[in-house]
Amino acid sequence: MTAVADRSLGPELARTESIGPDADVLVIGLLSTDDGPAIAAADIFDSALDVATREGLLAALLAVGAKGKAEELTRIPAPDGLGATSVLAVGLGAPDRVDAEQIRTSAGVAARSLAGVGTAVTTLSGLDLGAAAEGFYLGAYTFTTYKSDKSAKPGDQPLQRVEFLVPTADAGAEELTRAQAIAEAVATARDFVNTPPNDLFPAEFADRAAELAGTLGLDVEILDEKHLAEAGFGGIVGVGKGSSRPPRLIRITYSGGDRKVALIGKGITFDTGGISIKPAAGMENMTSDMGGAAAVIATTLVAARLGLPITVTATVPMAENMPSATAQRPGDVLTQYGGTTIEVVNTDAEGRLILADAIVRAGEDDPDYLIDVATLTGAQMVALGTRTPGVMGTEEFRDRVARLSQGVGENAWAMPLPAELRADLNSKIADMANVSPHRWGGMLVAGTYLKEFVPEGVQWAHIDVAGPAYNTGGPFGYTGKGGTGVPVRTLVAVLSDIAGE
Ligand code: BES
Ligand code: MN
Ligand code: ZN
Repeated sequence: MTAVADRSLGPELARTESIGPDADVLVIGLLSTDDGPAIAAADIFDSALDVATREGLLAALLAVGAKGKAEELTRIPAPDGLGATSVLAVGLGAPDRVDAEQIRTSAGVAARSLAGVGTAVTTLSGLDLGAAAEGFYLGAYTFTTYKSDKSAKPGDQPLQRVEFLVPTADAGAEELTRAQAIAEAVATARDFVNTPPNDLFPAEFADRAAELAGTLGLDVEILDEKHLAEAGFGGIVGVGKGSSRPPRLIRITYSGGDRKVALIGKGITFDTGGISIKPAAGMENMTSDMGGAAAVIATTLVAARLGLPITVTATVPMAENMPSATAQRPGDVLTQYGGTTIEVVNTDAEGRLILADAIVRAGEDDPDYLIDVATLTGAQMVALGTRTPGVMGTEEFRDRVARLSQGVGENAWAMPLPAELRADLNSKIADMANVSPHRWGGMLVAGTYLKEFVPEGVQWAHIDVAGPAYNTGGPFGYTGKGGTGVPVRTLVAVLSDIAGE
């Protein structure tokens, strides 16, 4: 049994060739076949779980009505000598529909149901070790920093340790290390999003990101409000000036190879809307308006941990959008970094203002690829719902990002940037306005705004995760309430794909 890494944010993950002797739960996958339920990937683990034991387990599960439907949970006492106290069967559905995302989802559902449990052992690794590890880790994720003893209940701590059955001692080591690194990156992004806005303001966010980057030996540069004003970052300064907590621009670089990828993430630590103030109902969800920043920071860190043979620079603008006597007004004109003048018609369309500065700055490094991630528009949710990110950009790269995202279960969907929308951003007084005079295609209008700042010839993708970055509904699969970490796994898949070119 080999521990993979120090436990920091989620359960400890390890590989094992046998069950127990002191495990609490054995988690097995149950398929729903034409001939009834069947235990998945069973014969791979003949030595840990022999035929007679499997037949006994299946009979016991049948007796209590288990069907193997996707995500169904059935918990039964373990037979004597198994090495675990109980057995949890998690449904996988029909065999021909079992893909990595189903395994991740079923593992996540199992992990969520095992709060209060010490050690689980699982055979789901026989189907897809990486997906099972991601699902267990993310399903067991909880954010308890702000829970005092007053709300602590016995047995409410998350699953502590998961052991993945492997056929031989050396099998799966690399796969588990990679899956754990990716899952930890998702958890890092979730932690940032879940940290409340009174504690995570621009300077603090930048310092926390710099500290994580420092432990990995990455290059870090932080521009404070004075530097930002001097260097002409008019978008970041304009959005930040209503707050007593001034804005920042942080740049983190991991140098691993010749090909250069620029990542940009929207880091609005809280979005009141500014003078164009939002309604009170639901405003608390605007703590998630730095979800894009959280994702690109976490991704840059994991690119370094995985040693990808590319260079990744995260350029992350951070500001708090507040109304006050010093706030920018609707009607103000600001100058984006690089010189474009903007009429700020609506102070609530602030994300594009800070992103445009960051995109121009990132473009100065001559990246081959540029990806920006933002909780940018409510229109993203109108178009695609709460779980499907919209991806826009240069067509080929946009489609590649969407395909890779669908491959990891984050399911970004390609959207167009219709040329006629550009004229809707014309301003009488400045080079451009920050909003269109109508409400149609709001996600695409925001993408059209950003397009103006992307250098010619760069492969570009803009990912709008307004809904997907933050789960305000109930838990599902491997996703709990609050920060989801979307689209970290998409970004890791894209960087890995670029690294393999
Ligand atoms: N942060 C919001 C977008 C958002 C809305 C994210 C809901 C997550 C959930 C963004 O800054 C915003 O306010 N956008 C405006 C743009 C409009 C003024 C053109 C919007 O979507 O209403
Ligand atoms: Mn806004
Ligand atoms: Zn916003």
